[in-house]
Amino acid sequence: MILVNEHYAKLQASYLFSDIAKRVKAYQAAHPDQRVIRLGIGDVTEPLPPACIAAMHHAVDEMASSATFRGYGPEQGYDFLRAAIAANDYQARGAQIEADEVFVSDGAKCDTANIQELFSSKTRIAVPDPVYPVYVDTNVMAGRTGKARNGRYGGLVYLPCTAENGYVPDLPEKPVDLIYLCFPNNPTGATATREQLTRWVEYARANQALILFDAAYEAFIRDPAIPHSIYEIEGARDVAIEFRSFSKTAGFTGTRCAFTVVPKSCMAYNRAGECVPLHPLWNRRHTTKFNGVSYPVQRAAEAVYSPEGKQQVQALADFYLGNAKIIRETIADLGYQLTGGVNGPYVWIRTTQKDSWKFFDKLLEKAQVVITPGSGFGRCGQGYVRISAFNSRANVEEAMARIRKVL
Ligand code: MLT
Repeated sequence: MILVNEHYAKLQASYLFSDIAKRVKAYQAAHPDQRVIRLGIGDVTEPLPPACIAAMHHAVDEMASSATFRGYGPEQGYDFLRAAIAANDYQARGAQIEADEVFVSDGAKCDTANIQELFSSKTRIAVPDPVYPVYVDTNVMAGRTGKARNGRYGGLVYLPCTAENGYVPDLPEKPVDLIYLCFPNNPTGATATREQLTRWVEYARANQALILFDAAYEAFIRDPAIPHSIYEIEGARDVAIEFRSFSKTAGFTGTRCAFTVVPKSCMAYNRAGECVPLHPLWNRRHTTKFNGVSYPVQRAAEAVYSPEGKQQVQALADFYLGNAKIIRETIADLGYQLTGGVNGPYVWIRTTQKDSWKFFDKLLEKAQVVITPGSGFGRCGQGYVRISAFNSRANVEEAMARIRKVL
């Protein structure tokens, strides 16, 4: 008899964004004449930067000739892209990351989901609350949690992120081995200072713990004092893995390219307490389960680091930050408390309703605007909603005008 993985039965709802998509589809089916504006899932709307398009076209032409055709590439990514990432994203910021510590992949979502395979089933895990649901759900699927009660899974250590702590979690009171952090944060848009990140790195070093640092939104940081990478913090390369993505940086949500950095000095431990480097483990996992990102897409990603590419991606992020400003100003003007939207593309709003889904329904039904209910990110998100700045200027302006009428 084939038995299912019963841990799946513990999962509370369907994946948050699938749930939202389902509700929106049902609403659209019932109201086919209404034009819905989507500020829910953080999906980009603007075209790829011209430098990326030119590089991708050129690479496609290379694939058309037997002299330049490429079959399987290296699973870890082509050297040209790994070198560009190490030089521009890390060494240029004083972070000592080498090209062969970068693993190119098809998404930060997949990598943050898959990384947990490297760790024991007994790992004590800390997650922020609110949290990007992938970190939690993948550990539930892998059997590292108990059942859910009142929106929280047994066995996980939740780190509340609230207005009181500026949405940056305090160090855990119980000992933990694996810590998920995301800055600029999804969903709150909060950023962590150098001092705050230093405290986490010191905690990990003192407790033989590991930080999984999701920096998918670093391209939106405009404040020069805020670190873009955990590796800007001294000692982090021994205790942190970092995830990045071209999705939001360069509009690659449909094109798919991201990367994970596993420094060679980054360690976990075996039962005897001996150090086990994580780089060879992730390399083993990656080469076994992944066959690389396509050549034209990697050439397009490389173009992000060309002089024109750098200007174009900066302009793209500035454009979405311009949307975030409009959202912030409208919502603040309506008298709501909010955060985010300054060094990140999400605005996190305290609603007047206790139930975030009620606020979601209200905006969908009365304004035909899709947002994300904060409770979908965890118990601390109850009563909050997230508005994404990813859309055209005209749609953001229209959405804000509709919300103004309804609220
Ligand atoms: C979000 O809206 O939180 C993100 O777009 C989800 C993702 O990147 O997977």
